[in-house]
Amino acid sequence: QLFKQKTGLIGLIFPTVSNPFFGELVNYLEYELYQRDFKVIIGNSLQDTHKETDYLNQLLAGQVDGLILGTHNQGIAEYKYSHLPVVAIDRVMNSDIPIVESDNYKGGILATQRLINAGVTRIIHTNGPSSLETPAQRRRTAYEKVMTDYGLEPHTFTIDFRLSFAEKKQRYNELFEIYPDMEAIFVSNDVDAGIVMSIAKERGQNIPADLLVVGYDGTELMRNMVPELTTIVQPIEEMAKVAVDVLLKRISGTKTELEYILPVDLWEGETSNR
Ligand code: RIB
Repeated sequence: QLFKQKTGLIGLIFPTVSNPFFGELVNYLEYELYQRDFKVIIGNSLQDTHKETDYLNQLLAGQVDGLILGTHNQGIAEYKYSHLPVVAIDRVMNSDIPIVESDNYKGGILATQRLINAGVTRIIHTNGPSSLETPAQRRRTAYEKVMTDYGLEPHTFTIDFRLSFAEKKQRYNELFEIYPDMEAIFVSNDVDAGIVMSIAKERGQNIPADLLVVGYDGTELMRNMVPELTTIVQPIEEMAKVAVDVLLKRISGTKTELEYILPVDLWEGETSNR
């Protein structure tokens, strides 16, 4: 099917631009699209399926030439029947929608290995719910594999990415109660790593002396705070470029791959070594 550029507008649907991972991503997407003469409409969908469907219906009603999405809401039927070119970033969709993601499995290996190399064994991993089919689940699989390979017991603690800041704080406090003797946490995103660091402080624990932390995302903010967070860097700018490329190819009727996996890196900060 050949799609034509009609409106010069692209719809972006993301969970929340208040998370710097999505904030940076939307920033780069807008930049790339603007370079190529497109403007954007942003739907900030949060965990609200109704709101996301509302945005989607509006966008599908012929008001944009294509969609780039990083939804946290799965199972929204309209995506399946979309007549528009769609590209997903960091989200597995249930149809033939191409996905651009970073190498989440490798990221999980790098993070876990980093903590094991620091000489600790009681390492907890926090991740979103497995019901949400995010590539983040691959970080979890990798963590569990490395732990098992070293004869260590994996402990994954579920904290929904979509919770509010206050709700997450409560969940992380529970984590500290459940695992009072944990030595390290591999947290599945940078925002939550920040929450862990503030809770540790409230509880009189020093990072890294009492607790090691490795985050995930590599957002600029977290790489520049004190102490600097050790984290897995997703190539956010590159992910945006590839997503725009794939979308524009689809708009012009050119065939594309269905999966683009970009490399990750470990950012060595100050929270992963005693
Ligand atoms: O910070 C948001 C998280 O949700 C990121 O790690 C991203 O990769 C996602 O899955």
